[in-house]
Amino acid sequence: MTLPQGDVLDQLAKVMPMTADRIDGKTFAADVRGRVATQVARLREVHGITPGLAVVLVGEDPASQVYVKNKGIQTVEAGMQSFEHKLDTSVSEAELLSLIADLNADKAVHGILVQLPLPKHIDEAGVLNAIDPAKDVDGFHISNVGLLATGQKAMVPCTPLGCLMMLRDRHGDLSGMNAVVIGRSNIVGKPMAQLLLRDSCTVTVAHSRTKNIEEVVRRADIVVAAVGRAQMVNAAWIKPGATVIDVGINRIEAPEKGEGKTRLVGDVDYASVAGVAGAITPVPGGVGPMTIACLLANTLTACCRANGLPEPEGLTA
Ligand code: GUN
Repeated sequence: MTLPQGDVLDQLAKVMPMTADRIDGKTFAADVRGRVATQVARLREVHGITPGLAVVLVGEDPASQVYVKNKGIQTVEAGMQSFEHKLDTSVSEAELLSLIADLNADKAVHGILVQLPLPKHIDEAGVLNAIDPAKDVDGFHISNVGLLATGQKAMVPCTPLGCLMMLRDRHGDLSGMNAVVIGRSNIVGKPMAQLLLRDSCTVTVAHSRTKNIEEVVRRADIVVAAVGRAQMVNAAWIKPGATVIDVGINRIEAPEKGEGKTRLVGDVDYASVAGVAGAITPVPGGVGPMTIACLLANTLTACCRANGLPEPEGLTA
C-alpha cells in the first residue's frame, strides 16, 4: 500500500483535524523507575550489591537545589544509596577536583553527577572530564561523547536517553525515519542526534542559524525540540502525523492565572501542534520526569558493568 505523502497529508489534515496522542512521561518514567527498582532489589538479593549515586551541588541555584533534592529522593525510592555533597559557591576548583577523585576511588559509588551550571570561576569541562568515565552517569565525559559518536558502548546522557525510550516505545524500529533535532547543546541536541543516527534515522540538526527552519522541520517524522525558546515550534512547522518530543522547560507570564503569575511551557506550542502531530509530549509531564528515571537506569547500568554483570534489559541505549 502506498501511504499518502506531503500535500495530500496536509489536505487530509485540513478536512480531518487530528488530535495527537499525548505521550505521558509521568507514567512512562514511573514504569522505568519501577523496572530499575526491581533489578536493584535482585542485585542486592543475588549478589549483595547496592548501586550508589553521588550528586555534587555547588552553590545555591534554586532550580538546581530542587533537581538535586528530587534525585536524592528517587534514588532512595529505587533502593539505591544516595550520597549528596553540597559545596559553597566559593569552593575552589582544586577542592572540587579533590572530591571527585575521592568519589572515583569510592567502591560504594557507581555513579557521579556534578549538577550544572557550575560557578563561573570553575572550568566546567575540566571538572566533567575528571569524573571516571565508568561512573559518568551524565554521559558528559569526553570519552563517553566519543564512544557514543563512534557507536561503542557508552554512558548516554539522561534526557536524550529518555527521549529515545519514548520514541522506541511509540514506533518500535526507528530505522529510515526522518528526524530533526532542534538545538545543538552538548546536554541534549548533539547526543540526541547521535542516538537517532545509531537507530538508523536520517538526522538533521537545526539551530538558530538554520535557514528556512520551518521547511526543514516540516520534513520530519520525528521532531525533538531542545532550544529553550518558549513555544517556538508551531503547527505550521509540523508534518501531519509526526511525533513531537518537547524537551524545553520555559517559564512565561500567565496573566490569566492572576497578576504576576507564571506557568511552564515547552519549546513547542502544544495547543496548535497537537492538532497536526500524531503524538506529542506535554510540558510539564513529558520528557522532564524521564531525565531522573534515566539517571537511575544509568546508575544501575554503571553498577552492573563495574561488577561484570549483564546490563539491565530495556534500560540502556
Ligand atoms: N543541569 C541541567 N540539566 C542537567 C543534567 O542533565 N545533568 C547535570 N549534571 N546538570 C544539569
